[in-house]
Amino acid sequence: MPARRLRAPTDPVTALSALRPRPAIPADAAGVMVLHASVVAEGRWLLASPDEPAPSLEHWRARIADPRGVCLVLALGPRVLGWAQILPGPYRRVLHVGHLEVYLGLEARGGGHGRLLLEAALSAAGAHPTLEKVSLSVRADNTRAIHLYEALGFVLEGRRRGEIREGELRLDDLLMARWLRSETGLAF
Ligand SMILES: CC(C)(COP(=O)(O)OP(=O)(O)OC[C@H]1O[C@@H](n2cnc3c(N)ncnc32)[C@H](O)[C@@H]1OP(=O)(O)O)[C@@H](O)C(=O)NCCC(=O)NCCS
Repeated sequence: MPARRLRAPTDPVTALSALRPRPAIPADAAGVMVLHASVVAEGRWLLASPDEPAPSLEHWRARIADPRGVCLVLALGPRVLGWAQILPGPYRRVLHVGHLEVYLGLEARGGGHGRLLLEAALSAAGAHPTLEKVSLSVRADNTRAIHLYEALGFVLEGRRRGEIREGELRLDDLLMARWLRSETGLAF
């Protein structure tokens, strides 16, 4: 009987479908930096523009090591295809509120990886000793991200009108949030 042909582990389809979120480690910093630069280069999802200074490797290392929040990646070896971080601001009074940042590389989008990554990040945040609430901001034309946030229980808390300038256009910035726990324990 002829031997069954196995797909090489580097096959892009197989590899993508095997992606699972895991906590980020310092060695992921370079991959996260490359991923961030590629999403910025698309010029439409994040506030940063491609011609503005990019965060350093040290910036990413420090964020990954920050114990006040959680961060997860979707990675194929050294390549990082997805990043989600929930991290509070610098003050004690707002230490219970983590700000969410999430993005995938182009090739990883549209296949449910965003939902998987965000569910894992919310679950990790729910187990974190000080995080109680997750907030985020998203431009009003990012319908895919908004759909995902609403599906995972985020609600609209505010709308900053015309906050984002895109050439002659002025776009609204939506503020969304969800609490991590209910009276019965974890909400997620
Ligand atoms: C936003 C992002 C993380 C979502 O991850 P994803 O893996 O592409 O999305 P998913 O495949 O999990 O699908 C998310 C949901 O949006 C839906 N969706 C897809 N395109 C959509 C659109 N244009 N409008 C509304 N909903 C859409 C999907 O059907 C899915 O819904 P379902 O689970 O109810 O079927 C990813 O697309 C991304 O990184 N985008 C660029 C960066 C970005 O925008 N980050 C957020 C900044 S606030």
